[in-house]
Amino acid sequence: MTDAATTPAVELRGVGRQFRRRRTSLLTPAPVVDAVRDVSATVARGERFGIVGESGSGKSTLLRLICGLDQPTSGEVLVEGRPIHDQPARRLRWLRQRLQLVFQDPMGSLDPRMRVRDIIAEPLVAQGKHDNEARVVELLEAVGMSAGDAHRYPHQFSGGQRQRISVARALAPGPDILVADEPVSALDVSVRAQVLNLIDEVVEGFDLTLIFVSHDLSVVRHVCDRVAVMRRGEFVEVAPTEQLWTAPQHPYSQQLLAAVPDLHAALAGRTATDLARDVERALGETP
Ligand SMILES: Nc1ncnc2c1ncn2[C@@H]1O[C@H](COP(=O)(O)OP(=O)(O)O)[C@@H](O)[C@H]1O
Ligand SMILES: [Mg+2]
Repeated sequence: MTDAATTPAVELRGVGRQFRRRRTSLLTPAPVVDAVRDVSATVARGERFGIVGESGSGKSTLLRLICGLDQPTSGEVLVEGRPIHDQPARRLRWLRQRLQLVFQDPMGSLDPRMRVRDIIAEPLVAQGKHDNEARVVELLEAVGMSAGDAHRYPHQFSGGQRQRISVARALAPGPDILVADEPVSALDVSVRAQVLNLIDEVVEGFDLTLIFVSHDLSVVRHVCDRVAVMRRGEFVEVAPTEQLWTAPQHPYSQQLLAAVPDLHAALAGRTATDLARDVERALGETP
């Protein structure tokens, strides 16, 4: 019997995921991509664990393995002490109540034909809770939105508000673990800090474990206690955030640190005109 208080939220034991690419000719073998290679790590309950690395380093693949959306080709993933690969659907339902996800693109992950209240209530309905109006309002308020927003559709909101709705939806089943894949990368810099603050608040307020992925170390620094630097499928360095920020050990971490703009500095140095220009640019980019 394991002690619930000391069981890690997530444990990765030599986790690997290979993909086989289509072969380019009949004479050559199909090339194999090691998207994740031999990753081991333990995320304690209540910890805020960041994963940072450039595009293609395997971050999303690893998150999919942690969420049971894909299976490792080697090693094991344990959530709250239970191995989650090769699980029958019933066990994965258990997992969905414990662990919830927020993705990069709120427009892609929110069904445009559904009203906000149905989007947020969906995980509750899946649990058989149909009388959920009060809970939906409570969740909307927890993410800084109001009861009136329940009747509107995703396209009626800004990117930042849509990401708030995604967070409310993720909180609905009352998870212990929140997993976020580049949750602010699609947002304008002027609203990034707000959404990061919201994630910070809900992790604190709902006593969650956070696993947060970004290509931007300054974003991870804002919300995480400890950070893994991922490169070509491997964790090359895992360190407390401030240590990584001030004294990165691995040459790749040093390179990553040198390349990222500091979010705080970027925001502090911005004028109202800069912010207005950002808003205009964001609106101009909206299809
Ligand atoms: N379903 C897949 N089939 C083949 N290759 C994949 C698949 N998913 C990811 N990859 C490859 O795995 C590597 C890591 O991708 P990904 O996990 O998306 O990285 P990141 O999220 O860090 O940008 C990339 O080389 C990508 O092309
Ligand atoms: Mg990714």
